[in-house]
Amino acid sequence: AKLTERKIGHGFLIDNVPLSKILECNHSPVYVTSLNAVAERVNIYQTTLKKYFKNNSIFYAMKANFSNPILKQVQETTAGVDIVSIGEWRAALKAGFSPQKICFAGVGKKEEEWREAIEGGLGYLNVEHLDELKDILNYISDNINKLKFIPVISLRLNPCLEVKTHPHLKTGALDSKFGILFEHFEEWVINIKQVFPNSQAFQEWISPLKGIHVHVGSQLMENKIFSLIIEKILECASFMFENNIKPYHIDLGGGLGVPYEGVSLDGTDISVHVEFFCSTLINLAKKYKKLHILWGNQCENLFVCFEPGRSIVASSTVFLTKVLYTKHNSNDHNFCFVDGAMNDFPRPSIYNAKHQCEVVNFENSEFLKQNSLRKKIHWQIVGPVCESGDFLSKDALLPKLFKNDVLAFFEAGAYCRSMASHYNLRKLPAEIFIKNGKIIEIIEN
Ligand code: LLP
Repeated sequence: AKLTERKIGHGFLIDNVPLSKILECNHSPVYVTSLNAVAERVNIYQTTLKKYFKNNSIFYAMKANFSNPILKQVQETTAGVDIVSIGEWRAALKAGFSPQKICFAGVGKKEEEWREAIEGGLGYLNVEHLDELKDILNYISDNINKLKFIPVISLRLNPCLEVKTHPHLKTGALDSKFGILFEHFEEWVINIKQVFPNSQAFQEWISPLKGIHVHVGSQLMENKIFSLIIEKILECASFMFENNIKPYHIDLGGGLGVPYEGVSLDGTDISVHVEFFCSTLINLAKKYKKLHILWGNQCENLFVCFEPGRSIVASSTVFLTKVLYTKHNSNDHNFCFVDGAMNDFPRPSIYNAKHQCEVVNFENSEFLKQNSLRKKIHWQIVGPVCESGDFLSKDALLPKLFKNDVLAFFEAGAYCRSMASHYNLRKLPAEIFIKNGKIIEIIEN
């Protein structure tokens, strides 16, 4: 369903709540989030994945948006959550996630962080360093009787593949800090086996390692690359199996992009993406006869999961900001100053991201009757922060703007609130949450 609409007599609506009701709350700038939109997207992931694998899970990557009402909504859908720090672990528990539905990933975990989570009954742990893997396996085997639950450990594989996205969002190429190269893992297993007195001892020590994880980048708009990723996973799984390590858990990461500029691109649809991944996995696994012993012919014994962030929350939220004043340096340089800034809406300044923007409330409604003023011009929408990197849009084609007009920036649910900062000692924007057509919670921050 569409998040926003305009209805004659009601003006602009966000998930059926009229903008006037939102403006009455008197918070600007503000993030307005539809929790139904969040649940809807988690459900699409879950129902599509279930069609292929009876053992499955979605772990929502909460780095995209960690607001408590969003986490609680995801938790109610029965999905799990993907965390990358002990702060996120605590926020997930506070939102009601069972520790067993939490997956702890991250490229630089501290020992005190993974210990707290493992002792708390963590369900899944993704590891990106062979030294870390060794420390964790040693810790588990030393404490085996004390631990309530042994997490399923997955190894993050770096498949060395180039993907099309912003350079900061690529995570699976040779120059990337993430994951372990297949050759390195192979070498490590061969060496470490020699440390153990016999193969039984090795097998016991390494038994929590049961999974393979990949995540090659974020804001990905093409599905093609995923068949190459799956080939690499299968290669790694066969090697593990040959060495008495039994992989029955595959974590396909997150990364599905959203159409920020309002254009629908190949692969943006969640179910198309999940279906492509799952059917490719089942088809390609047919070539690996050995793995059938473990997984079954149709991979029916395999546990498959995704850890999406952006595609769950980006489109659930609109960022609203009010016009302060305008300045025209020349015909080509029209500035519109708003009360939101790069620290509330950082993606344009960090990634040069272009979020669609619209005027949703004209303070002076007389204005709408005057055709000459409705002619659109090119604006730079800028904030009050003291640097030129502080822009929300470099080129927004909008009509003449006046004080207190309200601008909406779309797809603002992912990596906006979660990356917001207090730079210039600015207050964080408030958050308004809508569910079933009503405002149910306001966080003032
Ligand atoms: N799993 C891992 C291991 C990740 O590193 C990430 C995102 C995800 C899952 C979720 O990916 P998603 O489905 O959201 O693409 N701040 C950037 C995005 C950084 C993504 C970091 N990792 C942005 O605003 O575009």
